[in-house]
Amino acid sequence: MDFSHLPRHVAIIMDGNGRWAKRRGLPRTAGHAAGAETFRTIATYCKDIGLEYLTVYAFSTENWKRPAGEVSAIMGLLKRYLLEAIAKMEKDRVKMKFLGDLAPLSPELRALCRRTEEISTHYEGCQVNICLNYGGRDEIVRAVRALAAECAAGKREAASICEEDLSAHLDSAGIPDPDLVIRPSGELRLSNFLPWQSAYAEFYFTDVLWPDFTREELDKALADYQSRSRRFGGV
Ligand code: IPE
Ligand code: IPE
Ligand code: MG
Repeated sequence: MDFSHLPRHVAIIMDGNGRWAKRRGLPRTAGHAAGAETFRTIATYCKDIGLEYLTVYAFSTENWKRPAGEVSAIMGLLKRYLLEAIAKMEKDRVKMKFLGDLAPLSPELRALCRRTEEISTHYEGCQVNICLNYGGRDEIVRAVRALAAECAAGKREAASICEEDLSAHLDSAGIPDPDLVIRPSGELRLSNFLPWQSAYAEFYFTDVLWPDFTREELDKALADYQSRSRRFGGV
């Protein structure tokens, strides 16, 4: 793997926590706790190797279908993670941003997300985007609503709306599209993760469950990415 030719933006669907726990005879929530540790390790590694953007799928708009106990355990882990991250930000200097509709989250969690983003504005370097109550379709619908409102207010002509306009109204506005999307856990699907932004991404799937995902696994994915030929429709 060539560290001088890294993708700018890597996106990861952090999947397989529940199965990891089940195989050990542990409750699913233990899998989520282990997954949070893996996230810490991988985010630090991405910063250390000089990656510009890491985006992770932490909670989808569909994940509310899970039992209330599991949802609240995930929210509790998120809160703990953010409190610790805020305390260490001065040292870590990792920029964090949240993608997704934060409105349905608890006011406490929302305030922590805002605080994390505020502190992040002082930092340069690796940006970690956390997709929280994120759904690609939901994100596109919210962007379309905003564009429609601008048209209704006479600020924009419907006929002049272009791809860049839609991109600029997504939660990911200003962030380059992911070059590489990684999904652990053996599932071969996108599950509503960055569908617009991943239109030309390279995909890497592995059977490794997210809590078992290591720096070496990321290196493998990056090396695989470097062996690909991206043509973007050209020759
Ligand atoms: C991913 O792990 C974490 C979230 C969706 C929050 P899962 O909980 O989906 O783990 P599996 O897929 O059941 O193993
Ligand atoms: C996608 O995983 C969401 C996250 C990892 C946060 P899921 O486990 O929710 O996806 P499906 O249900 O297997 O498609
Ligand atoms: Mg899953």
